[in-house]
Amino acid sequence: MSNLIVLGAQWGDEGKGKIVDLFSENFDVVARYQGGHNAGHTVQVGDKKFVLKLIPSGVLHPGVQVVIGNGVVIDPLALLEEMEMLEKAGVDVRGQIHISNRAHVIFPFHRMVEKVSEGREDRTAIGTTSRGIGPCYEDKIGRRGIRMADLLNPAVFDKLYDFLGEDKATTAKAFGIANDLKIEEIRESYKQMAERIRPVVCDTAKLLNDSIAAGKRVLFEGAQGTMLDIDFGTYPFVTSSSAAAGGACTGTGVPPTKIDGILGVSKAYITRVGAGPFPSEDFGPEGERIRQAGREFGSVTGRPRRCGWFDAPLLRYTAMVNGFDSLIVTKLDVLDGVPSIKVCTAYKVNGELMDTMPPENALMEKIEPVYEELPGWPQPTVNITSYDELPQQAKDYIAFLEEKTGVEVGCVSTGPERTQTIVRAGSKMEKLLG
Ligand code: GDP
Ligand code: IMO
Ligand code: MG
Repeated sequence: MSNLIVLGAQWGDEGKGKIVDLFSENFDVVARYQGGHNAGHTVQVGDKKFVLKLIPSGVLHPGVQVVIGNGVVIDPLALLEEMEMLEKAGVDVRGQIHISNRAHVIFPFHRMVEKVSEGREDRTAIGTTSRGIGPCYEDKIGRRGIRMADLLNPAVFDKLYDFLGEDKATTAKAFGIANDLKIEEIRESYKQMAERIRPVVCDTAKLLNDSIAAGKRVLFEGAQGTMLDIDFGTYPFVTSSSAAAGGACTGTGVPPTKIDGILGVSKAYITRVGAGPFPSEDFGPEGERIRQAGREFGSVTGRPRRCGWFDAPLLRYTAMVNGFDSLIVTKLDVLDGVPSIKVCTAYKVNGELMDTMPPENALMEKIEPVYEELPGWPQPTVNITSYDELPQQAKDYIAFLEEKTGVEVGCVSTGPERTQTIVRAGSKMEKLLG
């Protein structure tokens, strides 16, 4: 009866949505533990495409319960819009969803603070998604945030809101944008939205622990990726939450002793959206080819994703901080037809090999990736559902990734659809999914 975490092993957009949706059929509950509607998890079911931002990707399986944990930051408008989108598609969202009463709430003034921060001339812009995520987490850590339970209690809410509203009005005034903030209007609209959300808010830590005690299985869905984690990512070019495995416990209230396996999702190459160092980025025609073939344009902001080659030192590092039991390699099909595939197998700085991930971006920017090249494969891999049917060169590529990362590749994805997936027979992944 194992409970598993599925999370991003790179800089996000690895295909977590597809994998979580697919694996959900083996679970009773799927829980998001961090991030907010900065995430965009794509699930393709036949000719229907869903981009889930806040609601766990398990929701498309009738009967699977979905939880938005305390570690998530929630914009009520984004939540209600997403619920409506799913209801229109015939999903019984209200019968499936549970929202933590401890999750923090995003307000329009969080977006304002983010705009100010990103626009400052004396600061390098992070290239955020402009959803107010960072400033909401700032208020959480600053102990002045407003939680779901507060939003649902009008007397408490008014007091906290007055304080927070005033705080932001002062910031707005200092930056000459005071007129943009309609503090009273926002208060009323949030009270109205609160009533629509109230029936699905509860103590999700209790719900999850009770479910586990009753023998039910929980799948934890990470958002973003380990290299965007607030502690382990390429700080400050990161998101403001704990995307790595530890976040699953702090972001839901399920203890580490109840987690049985950790699965990392990685593309067969690598991408990044927004600013920050990226050692194996390919600025040339091969990078552009990957962008076009992989449709590498952001699912939330539509921005073109920066593309590059599989980075083994980065994966070794994310495997270390997460303790991956097994890897899921997605988008193998995107490399179909590439004559020669590069893999970054080591980092060098000033001619010296490095054996750790540097914490300073200045050093990250100086990294010279050491590449090894492997032959591509002549036949397409798209749609292949059996490992044995993969071209020999594709199998060799997967074996090379296993050797260089030290982690088993237990699952390979050969297209965006549920069916376009291989779970390797006899793998640790297969056992964990049981
Ligand atoms: P997430 O944020 O990790 O859930 O990933 P995104 O949904 O942002 O981006 C992944 C994109 O790749 C989506 O458009 C998926 O439909 C698509 N995708 C996932 N797996 C595969 C695959 O194996 N092959 C191809 N061609 N596309 C895939
Ligand atoms: P999923 O879950 C890729 C990036 C932004 C920016 C940085 C900080 O779909 O993989 P934020 O708005 O979070 O403060 O922005 O993090 N970012 C993502 N990149 N996938 C995501 O989510 C991301 N969520 C945030 O582009 O560089
Ligand atoms: Mg995404």
